Amino acid sequence: MTDNVVRWRVRCQRSVEYDVVNAPHLFHPQNPALLSLGRVDNGRRFVVVDANVARDHATEIQAYFAHHGVNAKIAIFPGGEENKTLGMYLEILHELDVFPIHRRDEPIIVIGGGVLTDVVGFAASNYRRGVPHIKVPTTLMGYVDASVGIKSAINFNGHKNRLGSFEPPRRVLLDRAFLKTLSRRHLLNGVCEIIKLAIIKDAELFCALESAGTESVAAHFQNPSGGEILDCAISGMLEELQSNLFEDNLSRKVDFGHTFSHALESRHTPHLLHGEAVLLDIAVSILIARNRKLLSEQETARVFSLIDRLGMVLSTDSLDSNLLWQSLLERIEHRNGLQRVPMPDAIGHCVFLNDIERLEIETSVRTLKEWGRVPYAAATQR
Ligand SMILES: NC(=O)c1ccc[n+]([C@@H]2O[C@H](COP(=O)([O-])OP(=O)(O)OC[C@H]3O[C@@H](n4cnc5c(N)ncnc54)[C@H](O)[C@@H]3O)[C@@H](O)[C@H]2O)c1
Repeated sequence: MTDNVVRWRVRCQRSVEYDVVNAPHLFHPQNPALLSLGRVDNGRRFVVVDANVARDHATEIQAYFAHHGVNAKIAIFPGGEENKTLGMYLEILHELDVFPIHRRDEPIIVIGGGVLTDVVGFAASNYRRGVPHIKVPTTLMGYVDASVGIKSAINFNGHKNRLGSFEPPRRVLLDRAFLKTLSRRHLLNGVCEIIKLAIIKDAELFCALESAGTESVAAHFQNPSGGEILDCAISGMLEELQSNLFEDNLSRKVDFGHTFSHALESRHTPHLLHGEAVLLDIAVSILIARNRKLLSEQETARVFSLIDRLGMVLSTDSLDSNLLWQSLLERIEHRNGLQRVPMPDAIGHCVFLNDIERLEIETSVRTLKEWGRVPYAAATQR
């Protein structure tokens, strides 16, 4: 008898396709967007709503589904990073499990900030090995970043987003009217991700922030320029994500601001928001880039003046060089053995670094702490 070596190879390709659509007046009874996918006749929907959104919209949401004869279970859960836990994830799954939905044609709908869309996206990816879901972001962070991609996650074991999945939504519905009730702090939190994109890939977006950023924040992005900034940010974000949806390439431009911020955010939750941690990372990174002469003094000054003009305060008290260094080491594991830190070499363009040294972080942190809240331009004149 010959010892035949037998081998089976399984190969399958699955395409990913979903639309990110502007859908104003989402809860108007005549607006079909929320029920544009799945079964409507005798249909059911499990709808998870952020508690702060439910306060203003729960009645409208109930009325919307009742109008269409859909049996909707409205499950209200809190946002906030401190709630992005295994506990909340399991609670959502428990509620879902006692409200049965068809596996394919009754998509879960999540209406909330980045925390809720991340947790519900993760629940949807696991329940019955995956049920469809639709995301409706209600924060600026969700609008320009958290809801438009395919990543979902919960925090675990003291680490941000340690458990998660790649789960494409079936659709993302955008209604910027939600931003009207968002606090200034949470608006600026989302602006940090827009600044990130502008610095590493979009000089025009950077100019738009310089000229209309302040006015747009004041108008909660309900003004025409605010709308343009949002559309431009989403286009840029999707351009980056689409070409590398499952992160096969671990050198990602959109990781700018997400190297040192990782540990900072974990340590200081809930006092330091995601975007605030990202902004600190950006500030440290910009100084590393300046010290390496990747960025000129003038470009460096432009970044800090923009931060200042938008009224953003860098919480430099939370900066701790050792923690930032540990964060970088942890990111090396995440990025499979290399730093792969995106670093601007001009406004609107970046390169990737693999050789950042501890001393560079220390020097940048020291400079930022010395400046405190003093704008860059003023600090350098002294
Ligand atoms: N999946 C991704 O690719 C991705 C990308 C970026 C960020 N994120 C995640 O997003 C999370 C941060 O998202 P976030 O900043 O939206 O936080 P969040 O979801 O905690 O929302 C912030 C606060 O705003 C409240 N809120 C929500 N909508 C509101 C509205 N319309 N009006 C008033 N208040 C409202 C929430 O209740 C909460 O208190 C982080 O956990 C981060 O990891 C994920």
